[in-house]
Amino acid sequence: MHNPIKGLNAVRDGFYQEVADAVYASLTRGNVLDVGTGRGLLPLKIAEKSIHLKAYGADVSPKAIEAARASASKIGLANAPHFDVGEVSSLPYEDEFFALVVSTFSLHHWPDKAAGLNELYRVLEPGGEAWIYDHWRDPSPEARRKLARDFGSLAAWFALLHLRFVSSVMTEERARIILDDPSLKFQEKRLETCGIFLLLRLKKAGADIN
Ligand SMILES: C[S@@+](CC[C@H](N)C(=O)[O-])C[C@H]1O[C@@H](n2cnc3c(N)ncnc32)[C@H](O)[C@@H]1O
Repeated sequence: MHNPIKGLNAVRDGFYQEVADAVYASLTRGNVLDVGTGRGLLPLKIAEKSIHLKAYGADVSPKAIEAARASASKIGLANAPHFDVGEVSSLPYEDEFFALVVSTFSLHHWPDKAAGLNELYRVLEPGGEAWIYDHWRDPSPEARRKLARDFGSLAAWFALLHLRFVSSVMTEERARIILDDPSLKFQEKRLETCGIFLLLRLKKAGADIN
């Protein structure tokens, strides 16, 4: 991989595919929300997994939602994702509307993280989970090595540089502080890693989603 931008895009695309596969592995039907969806790449990948998955994307930016709607209509899936303008702490959905909520690289932007996460709790059905992925400022040596093996050392170098200096201040310590906030309503809260990214996994009490 000689072009570092192409390399970075390949890392991102591979990651969205991994998340979409994980969604389908835990949920074969129902409503799934991607919050802070940006141009809506993840809901498109989720919708492609199954006609029985209804993907939604919400973002505070009307421009991003316009772009997401445009790419969805260009692709023309039968179960095209539905996109809405919405702030994470006041989403335009009914209580318990979603079986699963995901989010990629948006959490570090949220002005009030506990309010955002508690809003996700509100829109999740009992037993539903929120998977909140964000950049990891200091990925483990093992995650760095795997990245270089999968995408080549130039793409890996560029992606890590981007993590370190451009995109985020999210560290494991910061993520733990967010999860330990006593005002959070979620009954189960875990911090995991997913390659070079952090995953905050939260679960609302109730039967499992599958
Ligand atoms: C770095 S982009 C990530 C976009 C997309 N999830 C991705 O992986 O490409 C962060 C997105 O979060 C959105 N965002 C930031 N703050 C938000 C908030 N408070 N509520 C909803 N969306 C928000 C931004 O508008 C932006 O589209």
